Amino acid sequence: MGKVAVFGSFVVDLMARTPHLPEPGETVRGSMFRMGAGGKGFNQAVAAHKAGADVTVITKLGKDAFADIALSTMKQLGMDDSRVLFSESDPTGVALITVDEVTGQNEIVVVPGALNNIPEEEVLSFTDVIRESQYLLLQLEIDLKADLFAAKLAKDVGCKVILNSAPFAPISNEFYSNCYMVTPNEVEAEELSGIKVIDDLSAKSAADFFHSKGVQVVILTLGNKGVFLSDGSVQKTIPAFSVNVLDTTGAGDAFSGGLLAGLAEGKDLEEAIRFGQATAALSVQRLGTTPAMPWRKEINAFLNEN
Ligand code: RIB
Repeated sequence: MGKVAVFGSFVVDLMARTPHLPEPGETVRGSMFRMGAGGKGFNQAVAAHKAGADVTVITKLGKDAFADIALSTMKQLGMDDSRVLFSESDPTGVALITVDEVTGQNEIVVVPGALNNIPEEEVLSFTDVIRESQYLLLQLEIDLKADLFAAKLAKDVGCKVILNSAPFAPISNEFYSNCYMVTPNEVEAEELSGIKVIDDLSAKSAADFFHSKGVQVVILTLGNKGVFLSDGSVQKTIPAFSVNVLDTTGAGDAFSGGLLAGLAEGKDLEEAIRFGQATAALSVQRLGTTPAMPWRKEINAFLNEN
């Protein structure tokens, strides 16, 4: 089992469930509120950890009560918190999440706080982690200059960069050229490539766009339609598991974390994708983000049954 690293966001999720998502200007009476650990980077690291990966999480917090939620969650889950950075001036990030209790769909506003400013010297301070990792998983929810700097550093030391391109932000050719794999969802794929993914043909065109930028492996995540894999030799759709959805928040993160765990233990691409899909299928049947991530035993049992 190779080591892996996730450099990304921790934010505190403030989640409300409502009968429907509010229209602009509308106030909706919610039925439930929960506060807990979130952020795409942290969710993905937790998903990988619970799925059995040897993962180091690198994130940045403020010095405030919300930071304690990150540290206590890591302690409770048995994760290494030694590579967490702290800002002296900025607060821990926060996300306001509204979940439609009928459809399970969500709306999210994320305020990154301390994650907006991660200077190069802070990225350099975890060179050792990247050097000993087989894969570095990034998202686009932190200081984008730090993301690019980390990607370049990783490529220089022989660590493969996986970019989960969420939330959408423009990606430079330089950034692409340092990525081994990208995993956009259909919305991000369209925003990044200009190609609307509606069928296999358009999925191939979108994947080819990313290959033309130097990315070796493209995994388009298409929600309940499954995943489109393109790796230079194979271009195919791998269908999703069919489950009852309670809350889709963090489903993409569950997939990314499961995929990372699968790759770290040497599964081939299709097996690792199935493993990620099983991780996501279990997570959407539960409320919240990090608490919804399944443990390895649960993923194995699900894969045996499905
Ligand atoms: O992907 C889900 C995550 O996005 C939530 O946990 C929230 O923190 C936002 O960052």
